[in-house]
Amino acid sequence: MSAARTGASTGTSTDGGRASTGATVWFTGLSGAGKSTVAGQLAAILAERGERVFMLDGDDLRDGLNADLGFAPEDRAENVRRVGEVALLFARASHLTLVTVISPYARGRDAVRARHAAHQVPFVEVHVATPLEVCEGRDPKGLYRRARAGEIERFTGISDPYEAPAAPEVVLATEGRAPRESALEVLEVLEVLEAGILVPRRAGS
Ligand code: ADX
Repeated sequence: MSAARTGASTGTSTDGGRASTGATVWFTGLSGAGKSTVAGQLAAILAERGERVFMLDGDDLRDGLNADLGFAPEDRAENVRRVGEVALLFARASHLTLVTVISPYARGRDAVRARHAAHQVPFVEVHVATPLEVCEGRDPKGLYRRARAGEIERFTGISDPYEAPAAPEVVLATEGRAPRESALEVLEVLEVLEAGILVPRRAGS
């Protein structure tokens, strides 16, 4: 594990994959786009490199912290605000925090970005841009079918809007790509971002 993560004073800046700071990596996209799968792969890669990683998933949070919220626009806004605040706390405590929530409205995502900026915490927005037809074809939870049948109201992409980010740090085209490939794409961006979230690994290290 790196010096920055452990508080040890003897580390070097080339010990491989050292995160210089906490950060939030925010995966947004339709249900079934692959947000959690890609974030899970990235978490595994980062953990292997000794990074302190924490995952915050929309479904998990809705089971507890956000159990009082539904899917009306104001509930989604509050859901995203709370998830953003929790992410910010973890990132400020030097974790690379990977968030997976649909977060369909640009305004809510931008507000979370602004909160991070106010605390000088890097915020990396990753649009998992899997097209609706593909998500619907996958339909891992059978929710699209139910939404089409009118059994679920305000379903994102069907009867509620998804506002794609205008200027995300990363756009992932997941079709025909292994989740690990997508995760590596995000990793590369974390390494080159000006904020220096990760120090690139030396070849062979
Ligand atoms: S968000 O819109 O508020 O960001 P969040 O990511 O927390 O959504 O939760 C999305 C998950 O809730 C989906 O993956 C799906 O399993 C479930 N879900 C239930 N109802 C809906 C709905 N109306 N729209 C979207 N997702 C829904």
